Amino acid sequence: MNASSIAFVGGGNMAGSLVGGLLARGWGAANIRVSDPLEASLARLAHLGVATFSDNAAAVRGADIVVLAVKPQMMRNACLDIRETVGVDRPLVISIAAGTAIASIATWLGEDTAVVRCMPNTPAMLQCGATVLFANTHVRPEQRRIAHEVLESVGYAAWVDREELLHAVTALSGSGPAYVFLLIEAMQRAGEMLGLDPELAARLAGQTALGAARMALEGDVDVIELRRRVTSPGGTTERAIRAFEQAGFRGIVETAMTAACDRSRELADEGASG
Ligand SMILES: NC(=O)c1ccc[n+]([C@@H]2O[C@H](COP(=O)([O-])OP(=O)(O)OC[C@H]3O[C@@H](n4cnc5c(N)ncnc54)[C@H](OP(=O)(O)O)[C@@H]3O)[C@@H](O)[C@H]2O)c1
Repeated sequence: MNASSIAFVGGGNMAGSLVGGLLARGWGAANIRVSDPLEASLARLAHLGVATFSDNAAAVRGADIVVLAVKPQMMRNACLDIRETVGVDRPLVISIAAGTAIASIATWLGEDTAVVRCMPNTPAMLQCGATVLFANTHVRPEQRRIAHEVLESVGYAAWVDREELLHAVTALSGSGPAYVFLLIEAMQRAGEMLGLDPELAARLAGQTALGAARMALEGDVDVIELRRRVTSPGGTTERAIRAFEQAGFRGIVETAMTAACDRSRELADEGASG
């Protein structure tokens, strides 16, 4: 069990997932606090045994770690609420807000604040997320280890050494669950078109995505070899893969992810100038 105290500013979906993950990892509920203006969000979290606050500064006072879990457009106000307390207690600040640069957070909280910015994704709700983290130069190795532990409580966690790379991460794992949902939906629809019952088609498409993802992650061979192994010469899979390739599947994925990456940069620029 970790004895660090952690305060969440914003008690929405992501904060709820992280609190659930930390409790499952053995963090004591007594060491977890959450603040949120919404009574219903606090009630849901209080149910888990953590301390809840409607005042951000009160929640953050004395905490070793502060997780900023509000929407990007609320970030400035939330930071200004806790600026004084953070200046005195000097906790590690972890931001999960998409597109809010560390430079902005440092402007609001103080230039020498230790900040880790990270990009989680929605499967964190099932403790099956993928998060990439970036630390500024004020973060000590021990704080880096704790930030990793916090995000690893909801899935896989890895680091990048340039903040700029978080745009590519947003395009891959941040928005990625929606691409997989789209593929599942398309497979389901095509299955129905070929005569399958809708419920069966939906189940088969989802279960196939789950099984394939587990094979890709848990086996000792890469996805190219896995695909080769299910693609017998002259068989059904080979015919389907050829149709995908001829229709430009890889190019479509590249174009889509480049568009997401560009949009992530635009949103960051809008946030910085707003
Ligand atoms: N969900 C994802 O998949 C995902 C993935 C990557 C990153 N993120 C990031 O995670 C952050 C949280 O996302 P979420 O999905 O958890 O959003 P959410 O469910 O809307 O949670 C945000 C919570 O913060 C509260 N809040 C608003 N202003 C506040 C303030 N000034 N002080 C304290 N709390 C305040 C909101 O209350 P009200 O409802 O009353 O406004 C809401 O309960 C966002 O910045 C998002 O970019 C989310």
